[in-house]
Order: sequence, then C-alpha cells, then structure tokens
Amino acid sequence: MNYKNELANLLSRCTSLPADELLQAIETPQDQKMGHLAFPCFRFAKEMKKAPPVIAQEMSEKLKNECPPWIEEIRATGPYINVFFDKAAFAADTLEAVYKESEAYGSSTQGAGQKVLVEYSSPNIAKDFHVGHFANTVLGKALDNIFRHLGYDVTSINHLGDWGTQFGKLITAYLKWGSKEEIEKTEIAGLVKLYVRFHEEADNDPSLNDEARSWVVKMEKGDEEGLALWRWFISLSLREFDRIYKRLNVEFDLTRGESYYTDKMEAVAKTLADKGLMVESEGAQIVDLEAYGMPPCLILRSDGGTLYPTRDIAAALDRYQTFKFDKCLYLTGNEQILHFAQWMKVIELMGNEWAKGLVHVSYGMYNFEDGKMSTRRGQVIKAEDVLNEAVAKTREIIEEKNPNLSDKETVAEQVGLGALIFNKLYNSRVKDTVFNWKHILNFDGETGPYVQYAHARCCSVLAKAGLSKDADLIGSFDAKHLADDEAFAVARLLYDFPASIVDAASKYEPFLIARHLMAIAQAYNAFYHKHIILVDDQEVKNARLALTSATRQVLRGGLKLLNITAPESM
Ligand code: ARG
Repeated sequence: MNYKNELANLLSRCTSLPADELLQAIETPQDQKMGHLAFPCFRFAKEMKKAPPVIAQEMSEKLKNECPPWIEEIRATGPYINVFFDKAAFAADTLEAVYKESEAYGSSTQGAGQKVLVEYSSPNIAKDFHVGHFANTVLGKALDNIFRHLGYDVTSINHLGDWGTQFGKLITAYLKWGSKEEIEKTEIAGLVKLYVRFHEEADNDPSLNDEARSWVVKMEKGDEEGLALWRWFISLSLREFDRIYKRLNVEFDLTRGESYYTDKMEAVAKTLADKGLMVESEGAQIVDLEAYGMPPCLILRSDGGTLYPTRDIAAALDRYQTFKFDKCLYLTGNEQILHFAQWMKVIELMGNEWAKGLVHVSYGMYNFEDGKMSTRRGQVIKAEDVLNEAVAKTREIIEEKNPNLSDKETVAEQVGLGALIFNKLYNSRVKDTVFNWKHILNFDGETGPYVQYAHARCCSVLAKAGLSKDADLIGSFDAKHLADDEAFAVARLLYDFPASIVDAASKYEPFLIARHLMAIAQAYNAFYHKHIILVDDQEVKNARLALTSATRQVLRGGLKLLNITAPESM
C-alpha cells in the first residue's frame, strides 16, 4: 500500500484539490511524535483567508469523519495535520509485501523500455589494477544492479585502456630485454617492470622513443608481429583482472577497449570539421569551448594523432548507434570531471539530442592512512593486495570471536570483501574515502560486517525457532504484537526501503541504500535487545519471528544490490 498516495486521495476528497498536487506537499516527519506523515497547511492560507493552524484544525476534523482503517489518529499540531498509522495494520501490510515479493522486493518497472549503459571498471592493460579501479568497480557494479532491479535494460561495459603509445614502448622493451617465460609467470608486474625500464633507458637513448612510435604506426597499419604481442599483453592482463572480477562476482556484458574505436576516429574529426566546430590552434585541431567556460577540447595532435577525448567521442557515437541508449553512465575518479564535461559538450554541439543522456558518475579518492599501505608515499596500491589483507584480517577476527564457525575461509572472504565494499559505498561517492582498517572491520561500527552480522543474527533466531530461513509466516501471526515502538521502527524502515532504491538510482548514489541497510540493522538490533523473540506465547513469538524473517530478507536483498554476500553465520 502506498500511504502517501492514500493520504493524498483522502485530502483530495476533503478539499477537492487534485491529489497529485497534494501528494507533493506530504512530508515524513523526522520525529514520529509529529506523526508518520504530515501535511502542512500554509499553502491554503491565502485562498481560504484563514491562519494555517485554523485550517489544520478544521481540515483534520473533516478528515476524522472519513478516517480509513489504516489511520489510527489524525491530529492538528500548529499549521500541520499529523497522521498516525495503525501500527499493527502497517506491520501486517509491510511484512506481507516483503514475503510476497521476496527477492523482487523493491524492484519495479519504472525502467521498462529504457536502455541504460553502465561503463565501469575500465582498467588499463599492462598496468596495475589499483584501488581506484576497485572503487570504480564497486560503484559501477552497485549501479548496474540497482538499475536492473528497477527494470531498466542494462548493458555493462568494461572500457579497457588497451591502446596508445605505451604499447609501442612495451613492445620495444619486450623485444630488447624481455623473456616469454618470465612475463607468463609475472603477468602485469613483469610488464610494468619492462615499461619502467623503457623509461630509464630512454633517458639515455632517445632513439628508443622513435622505435616505440614506429611500432604504434606499424600496428595502426595492421602489423601482425606488433599486434600479436599486443594481444598477448591483453590476455595476460585480463588473466589478472579476471581473478579480481571473479572474487567480486563481476561480469560485463561487453568488454570492449579503446582500441575498438581506432578506425572510427577519422570520421569524428571529419564530422567536427564539416560542422565547422574544429579550429586549428598551434598546429593541433581543437573545439573551442570558451563560451562554456572550459578550456578547448583537443581532437587531433599536430602530427594528426588522436587523443583521449577523440576516443571518447568516437565511442559515444558508436554506442548510441548500436544501443540507442536513454542513458550512458561513465564511472571515473573526479580528476576526470573536466575531460568528461568537455567531450560531452562537443557531442552536444554536434547537434546530438541524446547528449543529455550522457552522465559522468565521478567519485572521490581513497586516502590511506599511514601504515604499510600509505598513499602518501605515492606508490600505486594494488587492489588485490587490499582484498587479500582484508580477508586475512577478517580471518583473524573470526578465529578470535568464533573459532568453531564452519567454512571459515568462505565467510572470511565474504566478510572481508563486504567490509571493503560497504566502506566504499557508505558515503556519497563525491567524497574521498578515508581508509582505516580498524574502522572498516569494526563489527560494532557502521560497517559492512555490522549489517552482515545483523543478517546472520536473523538467520540464527529463525534457526533456533526451528524454521527454515525463508519460512512463510503469513497468516500465522497477529500483527497487533508488532505495535511496539521498536518493532514499528523496523517495519517502517522495511516499508521505506524501495524508495531508497529509487532515490539511489536517480542520484547515482548507492550510499543511500547502504545507509538504509545500516538503519535497518540498527533498528532490528534495538528490537532484539528490547524484546525476547522466542517466548512461550505462540502468537507473540510468531509475530516477532515474522518481523525477523522479513528483516533478514530485506538485508540480504539490499546487500546483494551492493554486491555484498550475506553469510548465514559468522
Ligand atoms: N582507463 C581509464 C583509467 O584507468 C578510465 C577510462 C574511463 N572511461 C572513459 N570512457 N574515458 O583511468
């Protein structure tokens, strides 16, 4: 049941104003003493020539005569009409919805018929998959899940950095100093080493740079020797990336790197020239964006070579051709905000109406505090090292807290990764993330393990009652036993959860879901500590078990949206 809609209809009958207009004005008071929903009467004062408190008084008297069963009380407080739910009816209605919809709770058809591309992760071939790519993958995967849950037709894309001058350098270095066995064994680390060596040697021998450039030119003309090495570098890198994706349960509908657009660049330059958008500047070709308060967007270097923006423009045009998307999301760190603003503006200036569907979803950096992994020392922090460390630390905690747990290894992996993911998704993406192991793995703090633990607690309560974890308790309890404040607080949060999913999608902010799950976990724990669940009174027990079971389900489903697994015991 949609309570806001119901209230709007009721108000509409009493005022003969359109319900959708009234709906906009309905508020959810922070303090539930002010009702579960509230309606401010200021807006009618002018028309009715009365003070808002008088209107509130009169209108609530009128409403009382029509009071439907879901409302327990209507009260005028100052200029507000406060509406109090019948808590038992509310709980019964909410728990039933959660049961009935099961895994689909909070899903909808709002996205039906709409195509959304989510480009995320996008690491660079022959370079480390670092914590920034981890952050990207975590955010992207959450958005991917969220949009699918809301019925959008989503295609996920991994836009690999697989083209550019670095591959000429790498080929040059490999042919001079590399060994096949060594690289096969060391994968990206070996390639990074070759790349570093190239730069060291090129300082003394600039001709190496010419050699590297000539490889790029050869490859662009289809040179098989160069391309074969390049493909090998890609497959070695993907081997490493795939290990991480497997652990994170991430799969892409499309893995398509920058190289795919190589033969589509010329057309971009030509179109821009034809449309009179391109001008020459110091030998290079640019699109002037001064009118939009931005530096120019570089399209062609003076030697005719294409640039990062050129590739993004080519890719967007190609994606629109292929998918006719309604939205195309791009995840990157916020250091790329200008780059995206520039090339997206160029797409718009080209006269593409669909440019409004291009969305840059940017996020803040990781700040590692001192210790073994300190960003202050300036080195790259590899994602795999952080994942391993999180799991190792979690293993220690489990060993200390619950040494008899079965399947410790799996749980350590789920909780360790869950902690990292939750930490990244607990604050608005635009903020930097402070990385502190003590905080991230604090089972009592605002952390992934805390929410996972609340879920495991629900599982254990149900198990103690001899119930399977998704036992159907509908019809076996009387919701009047869920009218206490603690139970109602949980029910209210469960009821509100679907709205948080919608909100998260519209703002591209998974943290709204993470926060909501934290609130549910905290509310359930407060309920658990205040009330004994497994009491002798069968009716009371069943009601509390039903609440427990619904909580378990929403926590599990919500964590899944964030790509976090919820173990049944931990
Ligand atoms: N590969 C780039 C990096 O690691 C990110 C690519 C972002 N996507 C894009 N379409 N430009 O920084």
